[in-house]
Parts: sequence; structure tokens; C-alpha cells
Amino acid sequence: MQNARKISDDIWWLGASDRRIELFENVYPVPNGVSYNNYLILDEKTCLLDGVDDTVTNRFLENLEFALNGRKLDYMVVQHMEPDHCSAIPQLTAKYPKLQIVTSAQALKMISQFYRLDLTDRAIIVKEGAALKLGKHELSFVGAPMVHWPEVLMSFDASTGTLFSADAFGSFGALDGNIFADEVDWEKDWADEARRYYVNIVGKYGVQVQAALKKAAGLEIKMICPLHAHIWRKDFDKLLSRYSKWASYEPEVKSAAIFYGSIYGNTANAADILAAKLAEKGVRNIKVFDSSKTDISEMVSRAFEYSTLVFASATYNAEIFDRMHYLLTDLKNHNLAGRTVGLIENGTWAPMAAGLMKKQLESMKDMNVVEPIVKIRSGVSDENMEQLEALAVKLAESLS
Ligand SMILES: Cc1cc2nc3c(=O)[nH]c(=O)nc-3n(C[C@H](O)[C@H](O)[C@H](O)COP(=O)(O)O)c2cc1C
Ligand SMILES: [Fe+2]
Ligand SMILES: [Fe+2]
Repeated sequence: MQNARKISDDIWWLGASDRRIELFENVYPVPNGVSYNNYLILDEKTCLLDGVDDTVTNRFLENLEFALNGRKLDYMVVQHMEPDHCSAIPQLTAKYPKLQIVTSAQALKMISQFYRLDLTDRAIIVKEGAALKLGKHELSFVGAPMVHWPEVLMSFDASTGTLFSADAFGSFGALDGNIFADEVDWEKDWADEARRYYVNIVGKYGVQVQAALKKAAGLEIKMICPLHAHIWRKDFDKLLSRYSKWASYEPEVKSAAIFYGSIYGNTANAADILAAKLAEKGVRNIKVFDSSKTDISEMVSRAFEYSTLVFASATYNAEIFDRMHYLLTDLKNHNLAGRTVGLIENGTWAPMAAGLMKKQLESMKDMNVVEPIVKIRSGVSDENMEQLEALAVKLAESLS
């Protein structure tokens, strides 16, 4: 049965949620599931914007049939050719022989790569500035390269002020009936997951996201329709102000996030001692993460959120301990920049973690490592206590 939703006079949401999924992109844990949204405009021409993931294709096809109410599908806009939004292209092109695919030249090539389907004769190739007239609606296309994939187009319908924003402005998390952001307590229940989604999916491409935001600022937007999570009808600033911070790598919270990697617990002890000292010096909302337990995607997200980061690691086979190594590599891969950093290392016979962490940080932009570096040689010593105090003083000063 159908679960399609009308979001304006003649625009439909045809999405579906997947709560069974463990890992989005087979890497990011999604304990609250994920939604795949797509949209249908019913005008003189009928036009679908994107598809969904394999897992919810049947739901989507039922919704589509219901919303079309006997009409044929004229166009399908493929804003980017990532499989989580494109699974039904083979079925749809078979079911609607007159259906035309509206997409970029690059995405058309990708369709043939994924599905061995040559749609050249049924394609309308568009790029930034092109338009598609549907009747009273006219979609104009806005390039947003790397706001997930290189060929991303967003689509703007000036007649209703609707921006179909592709993967931008989405979030992890299934939709629970309320498909509009103004129907939920977004700040409380969704902002953290929206950040984790943004940072991990497109955090690397801040420059390109800023360019897309600039283009969006020139449009008279009344509704934002992303491919994941809620539709936005108002309070755009809640989302846009965060996006502009995330895209420019500016922290949201002036406080310290401490990440540690510890085998026997001594490095963890040092991390907790530092946290306590910071708290005593007035720093609030400190967070401490055990890198062996916290998912990397969550830690990367928190590193984007916080102004001051402390990395504490035991030495492990002449390397940074396990997932701390991965965390630092991932932060670099996501182009995180401009943080104040404290370092704590541990090692019993040939400590190397601090030097290696510092090297990683030096390859990133504007990472300001604060002295002293705390150097533990197994258990926390009296000298280490002094170093931790000195580091806490410096970090607290930088936060005041
Ligand atoms: C598999 C393994 C490899 C290790 N490799 C090193 C090493 O290369 N250099 C070193 O100084 N210590 C090494 N250590 C020892 C720990 O880094 C050291 O005992 C440290 O104090 C542990 O801190 P923790 O209590 O926070 O786990 C290794 C330990 C293990 C289990
Ligand atoms: Fe995508
Ligand atoms: Fe997506």
C-alpha cells in the first residue's frame, strides 16, 4: 500500500525509511536507520526527482504508481548517480518506454557503467543554468560538484521556491511520520546526526559546499527537499548557520574533546586527569572518548564540533594505538583545520606515539599543538601530573 505524501499542491514526497540497515555506505553505523527521499512533480509533464536505494525500491514503486494515479512518467531527473538514489532506473525505463532521463553527461555515463544500460537516446543532458519546463513549474539546474559526487546537480523550482538539494542538508536517521523539520525538535534530536552525516559524507569538500551555499543564497528558497531526512519549510537558519560553520571548519563549541587510545588503562587515566583539571579551571561541556569504543564517524563529527582537541595514545608496535591512528588519518582526510591541540603519549620501552601524532597534525592546516606534550612511560608519574597541569592551564587559557 502507498505511503506517498503531498508536500504542496502538486509535489509529492515518495520516500521510505530503512531501519534494518546497520551501516550506511557499509561503513557508518546508523542506529536510527536512514530515509531515502524522492519527489514527484505533477504538472503538464510528470517529473520524478531521483530514485531510492535497492532496499526500499518496492515501497517507492508503489508510492509512485499511487501518486501518478494512472498518468505516465515523462521525466526522471537524476541529480547524481549514486546507487542509494538510483536503484529503480532499469525498472522505470522498462515500465515507462517514453520516460526521458534528465541528467548530466557524466551521470549518464555512470548509468551505463552501473547498469549496462545505454540511455543515450532517452537522455536530456543538462548542466548548470539549463532549465526543464514542466508546465507552470520550471526546474533550473544548479551545479554542486563534490557535494557528494562530482556530477551533482541541484534543481530549483522558482514557481514554488523549492530547492531539491540532492544529498546536501540531509541527515542519518529514519523518518518517523514527521517528514518536515519543523515537526520535530531538530536541535535536540537531529542536529548531532545531521553533523555526523555532513562531516563524514561531504566534510572533506568544505570549499565546494561553501560554493553551493553561495549559489543557494541567491535563490528565493521556500522549501528545501533533500534526499535524506527532513524537508525544510522554515527556520532555514538553524541548518544553514551550521552548514556554513561545518563547511569552513569553524568549531561550534568552544571546549575540549579528548580522544584516547589505551590498552591497559594508563593513557585513559591521564585523559581523565586532564579532563578533571580542565573542569576545575572552568572549562564546561568537556567530552572524553575511548577511541576503541566510539565509532570513528562519531569522533570525526565531534572533532568538527569542538574547538580544542586532545589526542592521547599508547604506542603500539611502534605506531599510534590502533583506532587513534585511524582517527587522525580520517581527520586529515576530511580536511579538518584550525584546532588547538594537546598531545599525550604513552610507551613502556620505545614510545613513539607523540612524534607520530605530531607528524600527522603537521600535515593538516592550522593545527596548533600546545606544549607541553605529556610523555608517560607506563603509569602516570609525578612529573606527568605536572605536565598535565601545565597542559590544562594552557588549554584553559586558550578557551577563555
Ligand atoms: C601489541 C603491543 C605492542 C606495543 N608496542 C609498543 C611499542 O612499540 N613501543 C612502546 O614503547 N610500547 C609498546 N607497547 C606497550 C604500551 O604502549 C605501554 O605498555 C603503555 O604504557 C600502555 O599504556 P596503556 O596503559 O594506556 O594501555 C605495546 C603493547 C602492546 C600490547
Ligand atoms: Fe550521494
Ligand atoms: Fe545519498
